[in-house]
Amino acid sequence: MEPTSKPAAVLLLFLLHSCVANHVFLSGHLASQVLVRNRRANQMFEELKAGNLERECVEEICDHEEAREVFEQPDKTEKFWNKYLDCKGTRMSRTAKNINLIRKCIEGQCISGQGNGVNYEGDISITQSGRVCQHWRHSFPHPIFREYNTSEPGSNLKENFCRNPDHRPEGPWCFTKDPSVQKETCRVPICGEDFVPPTVATKPQKPIVCLPNYGIEYNGDLSVTIGGHTCLPWSLPEVKTLSRDKEFISEVQLQTNKCRNPDGDYEGPWCYVRIAGNITMDYCDLQLCDAPLLGPEQTTVTEGRERSVLGQARKNLFSPRTFGQGEDDCGQRPLFEKKNKTDANEACMLFSRWCRIIQDDDAEVASAPWQVMLYRRSPQEFLCGASLISDQWILTAAHCILYPPWNKNFTVSDILGRLGKHRSTMFERGIEKIVAIDEIIVHPKYNWKENLNCDIALLHMRRPVTFTDKIHPICLPSKPVAKFLMSEGFKGRVTGWGSLKESWNPAVRNLTSVLQQIHLPIVDQNICRSSTSVKITDNMFCAGYKPDDNHRGDACEGDSGGPFVMKYPAENRWYQIGIVSWSEGCDRDGKYGFYTHLFRMTKWIGKVIEKMRGSDDE
Ligand SMILES: *[C@@H]1O[C@H](CO)[C@@H](O)[C@H](O)[C@H]1NC(C)=O
Ligand SMILES: *[C@@H]1O[C@H](CO)[C@@H](O)[C@H](O)[C@H]1NC(C)=O
Ligand SMILES: *[C@@H]1O[C@H](CO)[C@@H](O)[C@H](O)[C@H]1NC(C)=O
Ligand SMILES: *[C@@H]1O[C@H](CO)[C@@H](O)[C@H](O)[C@H]1NC(C)=O
Ligand SMILES: *[C@@H]1O[C@H](CO)[C@@H](O)[C@H](O)[C@H]1NC(C)=O
Repeated sequence: MEPTSKPAAVLLLFLLHSCVANHVFLSGHLASQVLVRNRRANQMFEELKAGNLERECVEEICDHEEAREVFEQPDKTEKFWNKYLDCKGTRMSRTAKNINLIRKCIEGQCISGQGNGVNYEGDISITQSGRVCQHWRHSFPHPIFREYNTSEPGSNLKENFCRNPDHRPEGPWCFTKDPSVQKETCRVPICGEDFVPPTVATKPQKPIVCLPNYGIEYNGDLSVTIGGHTCLPWSLPEVKTLSRDKEFISEVQLQTNKCRNPDGDYEGPWCYVRIAGNITMDYCDLQLCDAPLLGPEQTTVTEGRERSVLGQARKNLFSPRTFGQGEDDCGQRPLFEKKNKTDANEACMLFSRWCRIIQDDDAEVASAPWQVMLYRRSPQEFLCGASLISDQWILTAAHCILYPPWNKNFTVSDILGRLGKHRSTMFERGIEKIVAIDEIIVHPKYNWKENLNCDIALLHMRRPVTFTDKIHPICLPSKPVAKFLMSEGFKGRVTGWGSLKESWNPAVRNLTSVLQQIHLPIVDQNICRSSTSVKITDNMFCAGYKPDDNHRGDACEGDSGGPFVMKYPAENRWYQIGIVSWSEGCDRDGKYGFYTHLFRMTKWIGKVIEKMRGSDDE
């Protein structure tokens, strides 16, 4: 809808502008003809209301009774009459220029100087500071549905046009697409005044200086993190304990307490910090150069080491001491791989780019035993999808936990995990397990203010869960697995209970009765980037069908936080490659679903789960 409205908007602005600028609109001769015409002359003919209105109230001053005759219905009359008064329709003398102004004002294309612009019906959709307006029907980034219902009869909240539904004295406004600015006033045409249409403000360019190779070669002096914490010295005994098992790159000099990237973390230089007595890690605010994993291979310090891993036996990424149990056995489903069985649709997903599966299909029971439902304690409601990665940890999207534009900031006591589920609404006695959460870790670079970069959170379960046929963890990707699987056109599977409805609005969300699955091909990153105005980072990838693929489908809102998984044939295991993050409207041509690039987060996961508890006497 948005792209097609643009030419119309431009045209309209052009027309408006020329109307207002050309003061000689009707010649004096024509104008006087208009004025002398008898307003009752055509009363005997059935005429369109617009024609009557034009003669009765635009070309001449009408009174309330005459307006009522035009509209016939009291509510329509009142609506018009308020507009008429606002447009100074009873006060302005009828010169040719004024007639034109009154007409435009009544049509809502311009507002009267004094009124608050409640009648504005134009299509300005940029705020006074140059921010793009959010569509009134959309719930992202701001939950407009909490205040306005665009489906109500008579609503003039169209597209993402500036309006004044709450009669603000400053005039028309809109919700902005900037998550950190909820509402902002717009500059709209004032009848009779020159108008220069607003343009989208361009963001100040970030400095072009960036660190190549994920900042592995950084040897600067920064020793403060993004979270404002001072780095601990690398030589501190507790820090040495934490880094003991890590495969640090020996070339990286760990000087005093400077930010460094000894483990080749894709999020760049970091350091250990002490937060409320506990030691954990945080990243440093350094600009990294783009370095897509799927792009041409770069020569990094780590490369020799990574290469040597290729072709070797599968190696665990995490230590069971902090990660918990399940990594050895991950991704092999008790009722499928372990029984030498495949599920009904996986062959189609793996081997054919063309085969058509039903776009959102009921998942087979126990075919996604890693699927977790995040559930709110009170009021009890479905929050998000998530996935089980060990007997202690659950993975989800950060925006499921923290999203300030929605006043969302859940703590451990707000949420529960429900494991082993297939049906969405029923309590599945004897099958499902409900777990309490005792720790939530949101990625320190999670960027809700702009583009949901690093949309990932880890949840620690209060007690380890026992695996069953229907509760089983998914694997996290190593570099060889990610490099093999993340190729354009390869399909992954997304599972969730979310309805495939275009909405971030839980109020209109309809959960499907059983778990759904959908297969979606990975899309080339350049196509992902050009499909949206949102700034895409290397921590995201996109998937879905191109408009000409003649095959629709997308993971929609209710599926947020859920896993995007792929089967790695060499090991006959399933790996989680992405987390459902965001999309601009579901199942819309040319708009893909965006996923958190999980491989790039594995170093972070490895470090934060090892955080060292402070002593209790702190
Ligand atoms: C919005 O208004 C329509 C029409 O009045 C109504 O059917 C619908 O339930 C309303 N939606 C909400 C979320 O209140
Ligand atoms: C530090 O660890 C203790 C013990 O696990 C925990 O209760 C506390 O919440 C932690 N503090 C922070 C800030 O994470
Ligand atoms: C699994 O199935 C294949 C093909 O039917 C067979 O060749 C193989 O021996 C089976 N393996 C086990 C462990 O049953
Ligand atoms: C979320 O809540 C915690 C306390 O529960 C608070 O410390 C933190 O600042 C909040 N975050 C945001 C972004 O509001
Ligand atoms: C939700 O599902 C029910 C039953 O399938 C259906 O009748 C209803 O129209 C759906 N509501 C929405 C908002 O899609």
